[in-house]
Amino acid sequence: MTPIKFYLVTDTHYYEPSLGASGKAYEEYMKTEQILLAESSDMVKAVFAQIMADKETEYVILPGDLSKNGEKESHNSFIKELYKLKKAGKKVYVITAGHDYNEWSRSFVNDECVPTPGVSLEELYDLYYDFGYSEALAVDKQTLSYVAEIAPKVRLLAVNCDSSDDAKGVIDDRLLDWLQVQIDDAKKNDCFVFAINHYPIIPSVPVFDLVGDAHVKDWRKIASFFADNGVELAFTGHMHIQSINEFYSKSGNRFVDICTSATVGSPVQYRKIDITADAVMTVETLDVPDFGWDLGGLSVREFCDRQFVVSNINKINRALDGDEKYKKLLKKFLNSVKISTLGKLLFIKPDKSIKDKKFMDFAGEVGCKIFAGDQPYVEGTAVHSAVSGVLKRFNFIIKKVEPKLQKGDEPLNLTEMLLNTIANNKGFSDNNAVIKLKNTK
Ligand SMILES: [Fe+2]
Ligand SMILES: [Fe+2]
Repeated sequence: MTPIKFYLVTDTHYYEPSLGASGKAYEEYMKTEQILLAESSDMVKAVFAQIMADKETEYVILPGDLSKNGEKESHNSFIKELYKLKKAGKKVYVITAGHDYNEWSRSFVNDECVPTPGVSLEELYDLYYDFGYSEALAVDKQTLSYVAEIAPKVRLLAVNCDSSDDAKGVIDDRLLDWLQVQIDDAKKNDCFVFAINHYPIIPSVPVFDLVGDAHVKDWRKIASFFADNGVELAFTGHMHIQSINEFYSKSGNRFVDICTSATVGSPVQYRKIDITADAVMTVETLDVPDFGWDLGGLSVREFCDRQFVVSNINKINRALDGDEKYKKLLKKFLNSVKISTLGKLLFIKPDKSIKDKKFMDFAGEVGCKIFAGDQPYVEGTAVHSAVSGVLKRFNFIIKKVEPKLQKGDEPLNLTEMLLNTIANNKGFSDNNAVIKLKNTK
């Protein structure tokens, strides 16, 4: 096959700063926002500058959520940055997603959050025409999915599962039929085909299988469709998480899903992919570089991790706002209780390395590590012992819940699912991996 190297940058959530990103309403909004907004433009520019400095990598691929929330001004500015990549010799391919055309385009003027003009799904085709559609062999106008031969005998299947407000994360039978035609044509022409899709196709961590918005609908069917049609590889985003997962169809064909972090939020990374002529793929994870802001002595990663933890704690607290007495008590308890106290209540002895941590900080830290991939809480670690202790205590409830949550034919083991969510037991890294592909010409 033709060797190919590309950068995979996703969920840039670019926000045009002149729309306004300060004031009381902005500060209030950012209390529960996981990704950065005022800084996003400079973060994206810093990543693109790093990409432009690499003269050996010709391609940049972006699988959706390009803008913060579909603001016209954000798209216009972001597209200018894409043209700069082009001018520097890069070939750029995008798909759009839910955050590129939704109804919640807002800006922050003085101390107010005010609506700002957004774009419709139909407008996105013209706006991004030069970044995929202009050289497409076929376009599905309904979803803005397309296929393009980006290098000799290498076809990109750009699938848009996020093109309708009432069917988010859906690849329906009509789109599957269209994809079948495109894959058959690629095969007839002896092409290597890989896909991009905004939503993860395989749940990034086991517990995401239970979360509807965390993967495409009917993901086993979709993953099997690709695997059995010889499309072994897809790059995805949406969940702002680092993961690499494989799935085998009932016919024994493999499908690999590589999901990448948002560019503008924890774990604040992007990827460089290198597929050699003999189909060995190297996946390298890169950090978003310093983007020239004073982050109070923190690194970009530390700054974004802090935003992740604080915004999620604030979300929990906001959910517990209200006059009901039980909410007030629960809120107070969760914000003050230490792991050691929880341990006493549940007859568990937590390791001394974690016992003095406040529960909320501890949960935030664990959540942050889950989204960074290569989850470190394997058997024998203090966190694994504490979590498995808690799960044992609640086993009688878990056993009652499991049949209700089960989706496929296989019985659900919730304990194993949760423990494999905090520990990467897959045998390969979510961040840096070498994968031998088989479906190549
Ligand atoms: Fe996103
Ligand atoms: Fe998304």
